[in-house]
Amino acid sequence: MSMKKIVTILLAIVMILTFVSCGSGSKSTDNSGNISSSQNSEDKSSAPSEAENESEQSDETKNSNSDDTDTEPINNSEDRKILVAYFSATNNTEGVAQKLADGLGADLYEITPSEPYTDEDLNYGNSDSRTSAEKNDPNVRPAISGTVKNMEQYDVVFIGYPIWWGEAPRIMSTFIESYDFSGKTVAPFCTSGSSEFGSSDSALRAAAREATWLNGHRFSAGASADDVLAWANSLGIS
Ligand SMILES: Cc1cc2nc3c(=O)[nH]c(=O)nc-3n(C[C@H](O)[C@H](O)[C@H](O)COP(=O)(O)O)c2cc1C
Repeated sequence: MSMKKIVTILLAIVMILTFVSCGSGSKSTDNSGNISSSQNSEDKSSAPSEAENESEQSDETKNSNSDDTDTEPINNSEDRKILVAYFSATNNTEGVAQKLADGLGADLYEITPSEPYTDEDLNYGNSDSRTSAEKNDPNVRPAISGTVKNMEQYDVVFIGYPIWWGEAPRIMSTFIESYDFSGKTVAPFCTSGSSEFGSSDSALRAAAREATWLNGHRFSAGASADDVLAWANSLGIS
C-alpha cells in the first residue's frame, strides 16, 4: 500500500471519527433539549410545588394572622390594667380588696384619710360623732392622704368601702371627685354588718357619669377569695 493510500485511509478515519463526534454533539443537544423540556416539565411540576409552598406560606400567614386575631382579645385582656381602690376603717373591706387584687393581679390602693377615724369617730350610736356629722352633711369631703400614681393607666377601677348608714362614706366622694374616670370601667363593692349594696353608690355614680359604672356587690367581712373572684368573673373581669 502506497503512502498516499495510507494517508487517505487515515484521513477518512479521522473524518468518520469527526462525524461520530458531531453526532454525539447533536445527541447532546437533543438531550439538552430534552433536559430543558424535562426542566420545563420539572419547572411545571415544581411550580405547583412552589405554589403549594406559597399556599402553605399563605396558610401559615393566614394561620398566623388568625392566631393574632384569636389572641388579640386575650392580649387586650392581659393588657387591661386594673386598680382596686378601697377605704376601710376596721379592715373588713381591706380583706375583700386584697383578695380581689391578688386574684386579678391588680394594683391595690388604700384610700387613707388625712385624719384617721378613731373608735369614737366610728361610734354610730353617738349622734355627735364625726361619722354622724359627716352623714348629716352630704357636702363634706374628708381629705385623703396621698394619691393614686398614674391613674390614667387604669382601665378598670374597683372601689371598695364599708356601708355607713346605708351609704358609701363621704371620703369615697372625695376619692371619686379627685380623678377623671372618663373611659374607665368602675366596679363598686362594699362590706356591711347586714345591709345590702342597695343604692349606696348613687352619689359616687353621679359624680363619675363619664365612667362605665357596673352593678355593685356587697360582701360579708369573711368573704372568701372564691366568692370575690366569682363576682369579678360575673362582670367579665378576670
Ligand atoms: C359609722 C358606721 C355606720 C355603719 N352603718 C351600717 C349600716 O347602715 N348597715 C350595716 O349593715 N352596717 C353598718 N356599719 C357596719 C359596717 O358597714 C361594717 O362593719 C363594715 O364591714 C366595716 O368595714 P371596714 O372594716 O372596712 O371599715 C356601720 C359601721 C359604722 C362604723
